[in-house]
Amino acid sequence: MFDTNNKVIEEGRQGEALTLESQQPAANGKKLFLESYGCQMNFSDSEIVASILSDKGYSTTPDYNEADIILINTCAIRENAEQRVRGRLREFNYIKRKNPSLIIGVMGCMAERLKSQFLEEEKIVDIVVGPDAYRDLPALIETVEGGQKAVNVLLSREETYADISPIRLDSNGVTAFISIMRGCDNMCSFCVVPFTRGRERSRDPESIVREAHELFENGYREVTLLGQNVDSYKFTPHPLAPSPNGEGGHGIAVTFANLLERVALVNPELRIRFSTSNPQDMTDDVLYVVAKYENICKYIHLPVQSGNSEVLERMNRGYTREWYLNRIAAIRKIIPGCGVSTDMMTGFCGETEEQHKETVSMMEEVKYDFSYLFKYSERPGTLAQRKYADDIPEETKLRRLQEVIALQQKHSAEKVKEAVGKVHRVLIEGTSKKSEEMFFGRNTQNTVVVFPKMNFKKGEYVDVLADNCSATTLIGKAVSAHKIK
Ligand code: SAH
Ligand code: F3S
Repeated sequence: MFDTNNKVIEEGRQGEALTLESQQPAANGKKLFLESYGCQMNFSDSEIVASILSDKGYSTTPDYNEADIILINTCAIRENAEQRVRGRLREFNYIKRKNPSLIIGVMGCMAERLKSQFLEEEKIVDIVVGPDAYRDLPALIETVEGGQKAVNVLLSREETYADISPIRLDSNGVTAFISIMRGCDNMCSFCVVPFTRGRERSRDPESIVREAHELFENGYREVTLLGQNVDSYKFTPHPLAPSPNGEGGHGIAVTFANLLERVALVNPELRIRFSTSNPQDMTDDVLYVVAKYENICKYIHLPVQSGNSEVLERMNRGYTREWYLNRIAAIRKIIPGCGVSTDMMTGFCGETEEQHKETVSMMEEVKYDFSYLFKYSERPGTLAQRKYADDIPEETKLRRLQEVIALQQKHSAEKVKEAVGKVHRVLIEGTSKKSEEMFFGRNTQNTVVVFPKMNFKKGEYVDVLADNCSATTLIGKAVSAHKIK
């Protein structure tokens, strides 16, 4: 992966594994160590799990040596994601030998993919729990306490955990995720997600808006609405359900554009981001809502995967190169100055050198602000694994990957330079990693901006004049605090 800090990270689009920590009272004295890998949705799910177990009296700990239970939330998207988890389990094995009553559970996509096979492959694992079965965790723990192993990998058509208030873990107190849907029905041929996260279902908009309100009341100033394909969000309320604002009542479906608007109206000081948009489903009405509300960030993550229509067809992406470019043109027209990023992979089954060059030319044409770049990793059970040979040699996949990374670095640097000399509205997220005297935050296009702290505070909006930059970050000075109301 190529991230905004200009380095290549092997795994996880959202970067490094994160150990989660919160301040919950220890009601039963038992301690939970929770570690998440992979996408933002996994991080969000861990917050749901922390809430479910907190209700049973568990408190979280940042130190696995003092834990009674270790849960590892796993990713199955590429093979090396799984290897990392196995490496981590070997480390936990060492503690388990010293403390045999320690319970080790595996949750998330790898748990769902391997099911009870996990228990045979990794003898130290006691619990295997899939993404739709987290409510069952207290019962699974009891089973293990009774001396048995426990597995629940049932997928659901309804579960959205809508009624559970996530416990914000490892939070900066300013930005938070809200999960708006689960699963995916797209069946991209390379992707394991439809198998590990099940059928797509949307969460009740009332519970989403309520969660956004609560976060705002608690001082949060930015929410990211999460789904594998947010553009296909659709919730049809019961025909007799009341309509809060004329939309969605009387059984009329709430679309993503409607939902976005409702969350934007929670408070003009609450910024909204969302991920992930899908080129096949992204409609202009969503873009018009983004353009209409200042607090919806002008930034769209639109994964392209490949710049060649034939490869896109084999990937079962449901769009062509031309369609994708038309969506980019719509973004640029309806939301001038919008930041755009993407996901791409190199060396998909049968990808020729010419087809790879079309991915390169797609990048030249769009000039993404940043990208998450991967080499294709065949996943068991996917359509591609069953239908096509994984025939591109590893060195070729890697060489093509390095090519696109180099080009993206060049484009990112150009984009950041273009933003120097301008004033950017920044939401302050915290102290810069590089200097105690500096704050960092993001502009609406999702570019990181650092500037001297002066008298500003975390969670405030400031207008910053960028007068310098590094390869991916803007550096500047605050010109004024921005009061929205
Ligand atoms: N719609 C989802 C996609 C999740 S997977 C979302 O963005 O929320 C994230 C990215 O991982 C994909 O866009 C794709 O670029 C990459 N990816 C998925 N399966 C892969 C595979 N088998 N090999 C390499 N990269 C893959
Ligand atoms: Fe995967 Fe495609 Fe869904 S990438 S998550 S099947 S949109």
